[in-house]
Amino acid sequence: MAQGRDAPVDDAVARAMTALDRRRFLPPDQRPHAHEDRPLAIGHEQTSSQPSTVAAMLRLLAVPPGARVLDVGAGSGWTTALLARLVGPTGSVLGLERHRDLARWGAANLSTTGMPWAAIELADEGTLGRPVVGGYDRVLVSAAATELPEALLEQLAVGGRMVIPVRHTMLLVERDRAGVRTSEHGSYSFVPLVTTSPTRDAGAPPDRRRPRRPRT
Ligand SMILES: C[S@@+](CC[C@H](N)C(=O)[O-])C[C@H]1O[C@@H](n2cnc3c(N)ncnc32)[C@H](O)[C@@H]1O
Repeated sequence: MAQGRDAPVDDAVARAMTALDRRRFLPPDQRPHAHEDRPLAIGHEQTSSQPSTVAAMLRLLAVPPGARVLDVGAGSGWTTALLARLVGPTGSVLGLERHRDLARWGAANLSTTGMPWAAIELADEGTLGRPVVGGYDRVLVSAAATELPEALLEQLAVGGRMVIPVRHTMLLVERDRAGVRTSEHGSYSFVPLVTTSPTRDAGAPPDRRRPRRPRT
């Protein structure tokens, strides 16, 4: 059969998404909807992002085997697990989540995947990301910032890429020796990236500005 415009993509991202069924990273009441292309509630007013959005972000991120990756907004653990699959055992993935209960649950979900080179931890109070010597090769941010966070730019290694929604625009940030280059990749609606302390149960306030799609 000739490949049409909508032919399914067979790449590392598609294979990772097939291997790591979203169902395993959802609360029981949401599992029947796992294969619907929409955000699903995971508690604390947070969501498991829409699969097509996750795929688009991972493709922009272009994660090579062996990369050191930071996953900001780990939630259910699904994106952390997908990243872990993409980097393989020679890489590492640190997922950070600001809700204590979600961080625990996401870590438990991740632990069932048998990829000990990935971990999910509670985000550090008052710090966005977690600075490491040499920086991260890839940074994925699954919540919308109001502006490009300087703190995360500083954690991006030379040669690194970061994918982050800023307000309603998906940005790819590439760092090289000359500096930082930013490009825009479509319009999305995300839950907000919160830059205050981690919390047990305070849900993030809804963003009511021009939602183009359900928040992811
Ligand atoms: C769209 S949801 C998570 C999707 C997640 N990647 C998944 O696969 O389920 C975004 C998450 O970002 C978290 N978040 C928001 N601000 C954060 C921050 N500063 N540090 C860590 N997590 C944050 C929220 O609590 C929420 O769980």
